[in-house]
Amino acid sequence: MKKFRKKIVAGNWKMNKSIAEAVDLAADIKRELAGNVDVDVVLCPPFTALKAVGDIITDTPIKLGAQNMHWETDGAYTGEISAAMLRDIYCHYVILGHSERRAGFHETDALVNRKVKAALAGNLAPIVCVGETLPERQAERQREVVGGQVRKSLAGLGEDLDRVIVAYEPVWAIGTGVNATAAQAQEMHAFIRETLAEMSTAETAAAMRIQYGGSMKPANAAELLAQPDVDGGLVGGASLEARSFVEIVRAAL
Ligand code: PGA
Repeated sequence: MKKFRKKIVAGNWKMNKSIAEAVDLAADIKRELAGNVDVDVVLCPPFTALKAVGDIITDTPIKLGAQNMHWETDGAYTGEISAAMLRDIYCHYVILGHSERRAGFHETDALVNRKVKAALAGNLAPIVCVGETLPERQAERQREVVGGQVRKSLAGLGEDLDRVIVAYEPVWAIGTGVNATAAQAQEMHAFIRETLAEMSTAETAAAMRIQYGGSMKPANAAELLAQPDVDGGLVGGASLEARSFVEIVRAAL
C-alpha cells in the first residue's frame, strides 16, 4: 500500500533578491497561498534576507530554509554559518549538497555527509541534492552516480534518515529550461527510494520525500508531481516570481 507523503515545494532563490525584494516576494506568496495546508512550502532566500522573510511568514505554515551551512557548531570559520545560527532565526530547513556547491565549491559526498549530520543534530531538516551531469547521463551512468551520492551523502544516519528530504536534480536540467521528462524523473525517484530502502527499511524509504528539481515550471509541474515517487519540487528560476511559484505549489495540491 502506498504510504501518504505530504508534498513539499521549496523555492531556492540562490544569490538573488535584496532584502526589500525578498520581503515583497514573500508577502506576495503568503497572500496567494493563504489557507493552504495541504502542501509544505519552504522559502530559501539568501542569508541576508532570511530574517526579514522569516518575519513575513511567521504567522503562516510557510517555512524558512537556508541554502547552505557549515558542519561545525561554532569557531574560527570565517564567512560560515552554523545550524544553531539558522535555528536562531527560525529556519526549519537547509539545502545541502546542491550541484552548484558540489561543482563550484568542491563539496564532496563526505563533506555533504558531515553537513547533513550537523543539520540533523541542530534540529534542521536537510534537503540533500543529488543528480548526474549530462556526460554521465549520456554514458548511462545516472544510477551509478546518483546511487553513490545517496549512499555516501546519507551514510551513517541511522534512525534519523527519515528526517532527510532528498532532491533529485539532474545537473543538465538545472537552469537550462530542459527538464527531465516525467518518465525520467519517476524512474530515478523510484531508484532513489530503492536505494534508501536498502540503506534502511522499506517502511522508512516509503515515508521519505523525494523532490524533483531542474527547470520545474508551471507548464511541467503537474505532470512531474503526478508521478508516484515525485513528492514535491525544488524550484530555482520559477521561484523568483510569486505567480509561477504559487502555480507550482497549486499543481502539487
Ligand atoms: P532551476 O533550479 O529550477 O532554475 O532549474 C533548480 C535548483 O537549482 O534547485
